[in-house]
Amino acid sequence: MEGKGIFTVYFSHPGENYSVGNIGVGNTRRAAETIQKTAGGGIFEIECEKDYAMPYSDLIKLAKEEQRQSELPPYKSRCDLSDAGIVFIGGPVWWGTWPQVVFTFLSDHDLNGRILALFTTHEGSGLCSADGAFG
Ligand SMILES: Cc1cc2nc3c(=O)[nH]c(=O)nc-3n(C[C@H](O)[C@H](O)[C@H](O)COP(=O)(O)O)c2cc1C
Repeated sequence: MEGKGIFTVYFSHPGENYSVGNIGVGNTRRAAETIQKTAGGGIFEIECEKDYAMPYSDLIKLAKEEQRQSELPPYKSRCDLSDAGIVFIGGPVWWGTWPQVVFTFLSDHDLNGRILALFTTHEGSGLCSADGAFG
């Protein structure tokens, strides 16, 4: 194992969403904060530079297009996982997998040698193919 630290990394989208209406705090953020409070360690929010504040009907089209183009949208700040031995990684399921910005984060970080605990929130799809991102 690389380090002894614990880190929770997540992406979450507040605003208009399927079935829950317009929410101020995203579902995955709530889950991530609960994990961090329980497990301890640091927490990092992947904040996409792109503004996703738009109606749900527009966001699903945008997300589908990002996925189709395998886009890697940039995110705002950096996160040092060098001391992390256990990394919780979470996001909502978008079209059956992670939002593309989570893939950007994964492409920037070498997570080999760490214990990874994946979590998602969703509207019924389950983890879907999100775990496939880790081979
Ligand atoms: C663009 C988009 C695509 C989604 N695709 C799926 C999906 O494929 N399967 C599913 O069960 N839920 C899907 N959802 C619902 C979200 O996964 C669910 O509402 C999640 O809890 C949102 O988390 P958040 O509030 O942290 O962003 C989608 C939501 C959005 C906005």
